[in-house]
Amino acid sequence: MMDRKKRTAPSITAMKKAGEKIAVLTAYDFTTARLLDEAGVDVLLVGDSAAMVVLGYENTLPVSLDAMILLTAAVSRARPAALVVGDMPFMSYQASIADAVRSAGRMVKEGGGEAVKLEGGRKIVPKITAVLEAGIPVMGHIGLTPQSIHELGGYRVQGRNDEARDRLMDDATALAEAGCFSIVLEAIPWQLGKELSEAIPIPTIGIGAGPHCDGQVLVVNDIVGYVTGRVPKFVRSYGDTKSVVADAAEGFVKDVKSGEYPSIDESY
Ligand code: KIV
Repeated sequence: MMDRKKRTAPSITAMKKAGEKIAVLTAYDFTTARLLDEAGVDVLLVGDSAAMVVLGYENTLPVSLDAMILLTAAVSRARPAALVVGDMPFMSYQASIADAVRSAGRMVKEGGGEAVKLEGGRKIVPKITAVLEAGIPVMGHIGLTPQSIHELGGYRVQGRNDEARDRLMDDATALAEAGCFSIVLEAIPWQLGKELSEAIPIPTIGIGAGPHCDGQVLVVNDIVGYVTGRVPKFVRSYGDTKSVVADAAEGFVKDVKSGEYPSIDESY
């Protein structure tokens, strides 16, 4: 672990009061978690986006709780200073309060997660309350909630009319009052991102929600250029890992085929 103070759910909440922006990236494996932590990331989110960028599914719905626990455990084993948040996958908490508590409990007990993230607003407050009562910090997630993709009718910007804006304000307020330590705001107009961030006392973590959020989250594969599909418009690219991997693999294939690799090692 890098020599910096361990981030906890309360310390992430306190960053808003201190006026310190919060940097969040997704991570799904041990090595990446180490690298992101050494770069100073505040929160490592083991997102259910793993379903798409790691496991190759078309959306986030198929990934299982067992798979998310496995990935969360890999990230936790990096012993990062960053807070490790395990994303609760589709159907691990929707059916009942008991499911929510048991699934969140497994994320912590087996996955080593230090907090969990649940998608949804006021409607899921009873589940959030029960998870919090079990001593597990909760990150909320409203706006575009990919686990409701069929209900939303696609990956669309949310909160574009007055009714939707009022609903999101009510959801954000309900999650803050319930005791979430932060809330992800996904794919909403920047003006609404600003309004929500100013209205609630806990940090907002934006993804396609404009620059006025208290923090920002992106999918790590998107920022390092390690994706095969479409990258959302709001992503900023900080690297081209895909060509590094492709060039290295091509070099290896060429050397193996030509007999250039390996060379003779006399030491054994
Ligand atoms: O699954 C995920 O990676 C997420 C973030 C993009 C917020 O939910």
